[in-house]
Amino acid sequence: MNASPDIHSVGLRIENGRVLVLDQTLLPHQEIWLESTSPQVMAEMIHVLRVRGAPLIGVAAAAELGRFASTGVSKSEWLEAAHLLRRARPTAVNLMAAVDRMISVAGKSSNWNPEALAGEAFRIFSEDQELCVKIGGHGACLIQDGDSVLTHCNAGALATAGIGTAVGVIATAWNQGKKIHVYVDETRPLFQGARLTAWELGKLGIPHTLICDNMAASLMASGKVQKIFVGADRIAANGDFANKIGTYGVALAADYHKVPFYCAAPYTTVDLACASGNQIPIEVRNPAEVRLTYAPSETAVWNPAFDVTPGTLVSGFVTDRGVFQNHDLASNL
Ligand code: MRU
Repeated sequence: MNASPDIHSVGLRIENGRVLVLDQTLLPHQEIWLESTSPQVMAEMIHVLRVRGAPLIGVAAAAELGRFASTGVSKSEWLEAAHLLRRARPTAVNLMAAVDRMISVAGKSSNWNPEALAGEAFRIFSEDQELCVKIGGHGACLIQDGDSVLTHCNAGALATAGIGTAVGVIATAWNQGKKIHVYVDETRPLFQGARLTAWELGKLGIPHTLICDNMAASLMASGKVQKIFVGADRIAANGDFANKIGTYGVALAADYHKVPFYCAAPYTTVDLACASGNQIPIEVRNPAEVRLTYAPSETAVWNPAFDVTPGTLVSGFVTDRGVFQNHDLASNL
């Protein structure tokens, strides 16, 4: 018997009690769905980025914990799995927030209650969908008819359970009838922009142009872009935020060229326990991701997956609760 109804997004499904993940490492050329059959399988899928994006990895971990609870495991086995999933990636705080929410439900009743956990996973999923819609509504007001906007990485439907954060803003403006054009940073080293954002924008029918990351500053200098929207993996209390590596460079160029630079994220991405960006743990990934096939196999590599953009470079944080400046973010969330 299913403890909660089916629910699905572009990259994640809870269906007849099963948890299915669209393998994002194979996009855009293959659309293959994989089943999460254990917390270990889900933790691996999160670690290798089959499922990715700050909000979605939290929702996916919760979905697996909701499923796993109903397989006859004890509470202590379940808690061990929750801690394994919580550690699957270090930077996006949405992962920890979602797992902690599940742990708190597990701790509430003295009796082990798998149905309550499946119900909470469903609520985390549907809440993220609602948060995206709210972010889209607040952010779309910032886009004028005729604007060209730049985005970095993938902060779209594939990165959330809903319409996305930064791309959700763009899609909402487009659906309001605003004629816009999107420039997409390819996003080295793993090409989330080229592989995922371009795929999403194509499906949405939104006109877009792909650029290499090292073209963004020239694009701004040429006056071709009026606004920039990016997502976030963790926002500190002072507004410094971690996002995909390369975001900081985009923010610096935007500041120099006076192009408004917005960060779109739900409240689940804000970590008030981090006073500033230097407390955000930054994931360092496999050197092979940078070498690809071009560099000699022994070449030394530095591969931080995220960088930290100072909150002072952000024109506005587009959240589900409105648009805020770095100095009034903490008091509003
Ligand atoms: O390493 P990834 O692909 O999970 O990184 C994702 C990003 O940096 C996104 O821009 C961020 O999670 C925002 S998602 C709405």
